[in-house]
Amino acid sequence: MRPILVTGGTGQVGTALRQLGPRFGIEIVAPGREMLDLASPASIEAAVARRDWHAVVNCAAYTAVDKAESEPDAAHAVNAVAPELLATATAGRGIRLLHVSTDYVFDGSKSRFYTEDDPVAPLGVYGASKEAGERGVRAGNPDHVILRTAWVVSPWGHNFVKTMLRLGAERASLRVVDDQRGCPTSATDIAEALLTIATEEGPAGTWHFVNAGEASWCELARFVFDRAGMDVAVEPITTDQYPTPARRPANSRLATDKLQRTFGIRPRPWQDAVGEVVDTLMGA
Ligand SMILES: NC(=O)c1ccc[n+]([C@@H]2O[C@H](COP(=O)([O-])OP(=O)(O)OC[C@H]3O[C@@H](n4cnc5c(N)ncnc54)[C@H](OP(=O)(O)O)[C@@H]3O)[C@@H](O)[C@H]2O)c1
Repeated sequence: MRPILVTGGTGQVGTALRQLGPRFGIEIVAPGREMLDLASPASIEAAVARRDWHAVVNCAAYTAVDKAESEPDAAHAVNAVAPELLATATAGRGIRLLHVSTDYVFDGSKSRFYTEDDPVAPLGVYGASKEAGERGVRAGNPDHVILRTAWVVSPWGHNFVKTMLRLGAERASLRVVDDQRGCPTSATDIAEALLTIATEEGPAGTWHFVNAGEASWCELARFVFDRAGMDVAVEPITTDQYPTPARRPANSRLATDKLQRTFGIRPRPWQDAVGEVVDTLMGA
């Protein structure tokens, strides 16, 4: 198979893709930001033109949800403009574009799991920029796969599990938000889904991929400390008690039935996936 170009290769999902590529027999090419800067249209065009890619996987993003509120232009450039440029550059060469998006395109007002057909209504700058990116991908390349995911954790980069383990080592108790519910998801499992999709002939469209089950941040924190064998008391608090610059959806649980139907991908329970991450970080 021809190589796959990956953007954001230093991020959580990008790192997992670089690790998993060889297992799928795929050469993953992941240029650093100095080679491929998504804020630079010329470098996007040059990267796509460089080789005859089997596919391009866009997992680079401006992911600082709170900072995006004060840097809307920077978020828009990377999350909205760049995906559309990637889409037109790949479409012009007959290359499929796989684009990673987010649960934060939803406002969280639904009481059940979100499906791909539910209307989007982002609450903040980050979500709005990612939603615009989805539209750019759909408009720019008919051969696209948009994979929305959520609550990403891994042994590398910045994520909730690493933050909890760091804070838990310093404090005997923590207060953690208990009224936002989502689906904790391993970057490795997202990468595996992306490579499975990339290696199959399949339709274009939008799919959700998250690990199975659901949790609040508080429940996730308790699971992490339990798994790590750390004695940290976790006090549940409300979102109002932990104000942040960006509003977050109270419910961002994603349904994965469509992905299971189309690609036969069955996400494992989040406890297995997150447990693996905790074990790795604890050196087990
Ligand atoms: N993290 C989550 O909880 C979460 C939840 C839902 C969806 N997602 C989506 O999942 C995808 C992957 O997220 P992640 O957690 O793996 O992200 P991440 O760890 O924050 O990594 C972001 C990546 O994007 C790169 N990047 C940012 N700006 C760039 C630019 N101007 N040019 C080139 N590269 C740039 C970063 O490169 P540098 O190392 O050079 O900064 C890094 O490799 C994103 O599309 C994100 O929106 C994430």
